[in-house]
Amino acid sequence: MAVVRSGSGATRARQRGHPAAALALLTLLSALLTCCVRCAEPSAKPSNIILIVADDQDVELGGMTPMKKTKALIGDAGATFVNAFTVTPLCCPSRSSILTGRYPHNHEVRNNSLSGNCSSALWQTGPESEAFPVFLSKQKYQTFFAGKYLNQYGKKDGGDVGHVPPGWNQWHALVGNSQYYNYTLSVNGKEEKHGDLYEEDYLTDLITNRSLSFLENRIPQQPFFLMLSPPAPHSPWTAAPQYQKEFGDVKAPRDGSFDKPGKDKHWLLRQPVNPMSSSSLAFLDNAYRKRWQTLLSVDDMVELLVKKLDSIKELDNTYIFYTSDNGYHTGQFSLPIDKRQLYEFDIRIPLMVRGPGIKPNQTLQAPVLNIDLAPTFLDISGVNLSTVNVDGQSFLSQMAPSLRNGTARPFFLVEYTGEGLPTTDPACPKLGPGLSQCFPDCVCEDAYNNTYACVRTLDSENNLQYCEFADSESFVEVYNLKLDPHQLENIIKKVDPLVLQAMNQRLIKLQSCEGNSCRDIK
Ligand SMILES: *[C@@H]1O[C@H](CO)[C@@H](O)[C@H](O)[C@H]1NC(C)=O
Ligand SMILES: *[C@@H]1O[C@H](CO)[C@@H](O)[C@H](O)[C@H]1NC(C)=O
Ligand SMILES: *[C@@H]1O[C@H](CO)[C@@H](O)[C@H](O)[C@H]1NC(C)=O
Ligand SMILES: *[C@@H]1O[C@H](CO)[C@@H](O)[C@H](O)[C@H]1NC(C)=O
Ligand SMILES: *[C@@H]1O[C@H](CO)[C@@H](O)[C@H](O)[C@H]1NC(C)=O
Repeated sequence: MAVVRSGSGATRARQRGHPAAALALLTLLSALLTCCVRCAEPSAKPSNIILIVADDQDVELGGMTPMKKTKALIGDAGATFVNAFTVTPLCCPSRSSILTGRYPHNHEVRNNSLSGNCSSALWQTGPESEAFPVFLSKQKYQTFFAGKYLNQYGKKDGGDVGHVPPGWNQWHALVGNSQYYNYTLSVNGKEEKHGDLYEEDYLTDLITNRSLSFLENRIPQQPFFLMLSPPAPHSPWTAAPQYQKEFGDVKAPRDGSFDKPGKDKHWLLRQPVNPMSSSSLAFLDNAYRKRWQTLLSVDDMVELLVKKLDSIKELDNTYIFYTSDNGYHTGQFSLPIDKRQLYEFDIRIPLMVRGPGIKPNQTLQAPVLNIDLAPTFLDISGVNLSTVNVDGQSFLSQMAPSLRNGTARPFFLVEYTGEGLPTTDPACPKLGPGLSQCFPDCVCEDAYNNTYACVRTLDSENNLQYCEFADSESFVEVYNLKLDPHQLENIIKKVDPLVLQAMNQRLIKLQSCEGNSCRDIK
């Protein structure tokens, strides 16, 4: 499989400029004695980039439905990837993959705790020091971050608010996990506390406002990169006051695997109460509705950003990426609410991109992963990708074939390390230790041995998922998603053993891949 050649073509040529052309320009400049700096503003400047990462926004269950302006301003104006995946369906490991372009087995962030490397000292001295902002900064980008970073960021044992990761010029990062009010930020390394006044503290709006000021005050000669990471639609689902009455009659969708028993699945999926109780249904419908309400402020963020870019005349030279860290479920296989599972609802993510060279209204089928974001940004910025240590690949060629050549990958890995608690939940003694995220009816969403790795085959002919669990059953699940898009039937007993063996071999290779070897799996 061909790896996208980076730095080839337009960006690099434009960046370096041509010596003779530069000389001619200098002559012209010195002739215009009264000329100001703005005249020299290089048309050679690489494109600007904005990345918006929502928290826990699914795409499978209608998570994009409330975002009409975002779909119009990014999706319709560019490309919508209908096969976008996270390589791991949990916030901290997924965000670490976005930042580094690496699979979890290479960045080694395993869960949302410091002990699992979430914003740990080893992460900071290791993978974080090679994350994409470091390279963008070397390419003279002005970089800006606002919102949720990593779940343990800013905590005392994780370097406190004084730790500002390298590569960022402006840093407005949330301490800890998503909140809408009553939170602490690290503003360029200094603590800033917030209360619960909508006009001053609502986090989604604060991120919007600070990004707009950053754009106002940018240095026009340099390109910019913004990463905006709103808390929505993560719990506690606090919508802006003006949106708290929206979607009054919206309920979680009842189709597909909703409240279906997971009889042929691994043990964690065999334990939920089925059918679900009416109190669980009321709880998840409420969560579903409130999630949508919180997203309306993110939709406003996108609209205001696009307006601002237009008014400062940067819209045509800016890529805007919209995505999420992982998917989400509300009642699928009778699991109340969460992520962490290998199924489509948790691993599929929204991904829409607009920008130079991207034709409008494209629906793209090529599989794209969250580890592909970093190499795509570096590709746009003119970095030679053969010099960076990433497992993903640029997808600029998929959305802007006039700028790059490249092919889609037919196989990829999704890997996950389950979270548990060493003690038994006193409310559910029958469950024993090792589980986490348990609901009052003793249905749990995670366990230490909800640890799995899957190989996905996805091209024009095949859509297969093969997953192995690290549990005492060495459980295997196999789905033919072409025939069974909701993963209702585990076909492990029906598949030709030779096919299983081939998938097992491919999985073993992917689980230890690094860089090129992750992209060249046969
Ligand atoms: C994209 O498609 C929509 C719906 O068909 C249409 O209304 C819109 O004008 C198109 N946008 C562009 C930029 O072509
Ligand atoms: C944390 O990351 C370091 C390297 O950055 C690695 O040596 C260590 O094993 C990781 N810890 C876990 C629990 O994976
Ligand atoms: C914020 O904290 C104050 C003081 O502890 C509390 O009264 C208030 O209810 C909190 N607001 C929210 C939205 O959690
Ligand atoms: C954001 O800016 C708008 C417009 O100036 C203002 O009305 C709003 O109160 C601000 N919100 C926050 C949280 O700063
Ligand atoms: C996170 O990973 C570390 C290292 O493997 C482990 O010790 C810890 O128990 C995990 N945390 C949870 C909540 O599972």
